[in-house]
Amino acid sequence: MRLFRKEGATIQIISFPGEDVEKGDYLKITDSTGKNLIVQVIDIEYANIPGILEELLRNHNNSLVQGEDVDPFEVANHIAFIQDAHLLICKIRAIDVQGELVHASSWLPSRTKARVKRLTVDQLLASDKNSFMTHLGATTRRKDIHIDVRALDGALNIITGKKGTGKSHVSKLLVLSLVSNGAPVVVLDLNGEYTGLNRDASGKPNSYQDKILVLTPGKNFKLTLNQLNIRVMLSILVNTLHLPGTSAREFKRIWHYLNERNALTLTNLGEAIRDWKCNQHVRDALFSRYYTLLHSGLLTDQAACTSLESELAKIQHGGGVIINLRDTSLTNRYIVVEYVLAKLIELLTKRRLRSIFLFAEEAHLYLRETYWNDIVTRMRHFGAFTTFVTNQPDTIRESIYRQADSLFLFNFTSSHDLETISRASKIDSETIKSVARDLPPHHCLVLGNVVNDFPVVAKIRELDVLAMGETRLFFSESQGSS
Ligand SMILES: Nc1ncnc2c1ncn2[C@@H]1O[C@H](COP(=O)(O)OP(=O)(O)OP(=O)(O)O)[C@@H](O)[C@H]1O
Ligand SMILES: [Mg+2]
Repeated sequence: MRLFRKEGATIQIISFPGEDVEKGDYLKITDSTGKNLIVQVIDIEYANIPGILEELLRNHNNSLVQGEDVDPFEVANHIAFIQDAHLLICKIRAIDVQGELVHASSWLPSRTKARVKRLTVDQLLASDKNSFMTHLGATTRRKDIHIDVRALDGALNIITGKKGTGKSHVSKLLVLSLVSNGAPVVVLDLNGEYTGLNRDASGKPNSYQDKILVLTPGKNFKLTLNQLNIRVMLSILVNTLHLPGTSAREFKRIWHYLNERNALTLTNLGEAIRDWKCNQHVRDALFSRYYTLLHSGLLTDQAACTSLESELAKIQHGGGVIINLRDTSLTNRYIVVEYVLAKLIELLTKRRLRSIFLFAEEAHLYLRETYWNDIVTRMRHFGAFTTFVTNQPDTIRESIYRQADSLFLFNFTSSHDLETISRASKIDSETIKSVARDLPPHHCLVLGNVVNDFPVVAKIRELDVLAMGETRLFFSESQGSS
């Protein structure tokens, strides 16, 4: 390989036939100064040599013309060798000055003396093997990739890619790695996909049996009015059930009245609304919301039901609470998420919970607009660290991508989606567009803190857990039964 040209942050290297280089590979360019330029191959093109077109056309003609090739100086082989040369388009990632990595420097190696060698990923990623290292998968060259789960601490992460590429899979891997390292995790599980994490692929309980707790709203997860404080209740009524302001004020009075008498039950609430001295419109508005809540199946008067607080206490030293939102109606989903987030904030601010890792799948389907910023800024300060998983990158705002510490990017073919991510992410857009377009399923481009800011293409390892949430196909079932 020979160093050829530099344009901005792009370095072009000529590679000759027989030199095995792939997209995503890292190269080290060394000269006699002792410094090394670390670059990553983001695209491979043919080397454009002057006269190549004529040469290719002439070769084609030769095969049509009868006769003997005369090559007295034996240059044909050399010409073929040069014609097959590749141009590697590389991005500068760092400069290694005597073992220390510098991310910004204007140093350039000598073009005549430089030697270019391939670097393996494990030479770049955190080399100290500690107990926090988790096996993520392998590089395209089958070298294992380990990441330090502590890089997820205090961080905002995004997992995105097109449908069915393996986003939920890597998210499950991260959840289990955090749990096995003693961290508490809450998953807002839209499709009930994480409910099988406590069983192995054959359905038998695994080592996470006692650590992964599944809460299904309306079944083993119901709320009493006492568990819902007035702030959460009003937020549900106003934001989810669109209760007007005047009625909300009246509701607050009714709530306080019952609370003072220690009589907060669903039956009492219904009776109080019926007997309360207020305008008929207000009463109608309150009744309609009361019945919605009553029929949601989420509320109960039985105090013995599971409380989120007690479940969270069980996972303080490592474990996951899966909020299974599958088969939950849209309104109920909003109510449950509103409650869960409010409860988390309350426990974190009162320091009853040190910190929590929150995983949210397709959050735009249940997260209120105003909560997005809250989650990434305010809640983060209190100790809630979120990972968003989505196949629609434009549902996450640009400002959120900018704050993301790590990004797990799976294949995208739509240039609109790639544009959205590349515009907002910290890494250059060429890398994202060029690498993400060619990623096979189950492979992802990992960017950010977890990989020390060295973008790496990883084939995510398999997991021995019960896969749930697979798309139920019509033909496979009907064929099986015939
Ligand atoms: N690294 C992997 N090794 C083995 N199987 C995998 C891997 N990644 C994903 N799978 C399998 O591929 C299928 C699709 O993966 P997954 O559900 O994670 O995709 P997704 O991107 O979340 O899809 P969707 O957009 O539908 O949510 C699943 O059956 C999963 O078990
Ligand atoms: Mg998924």
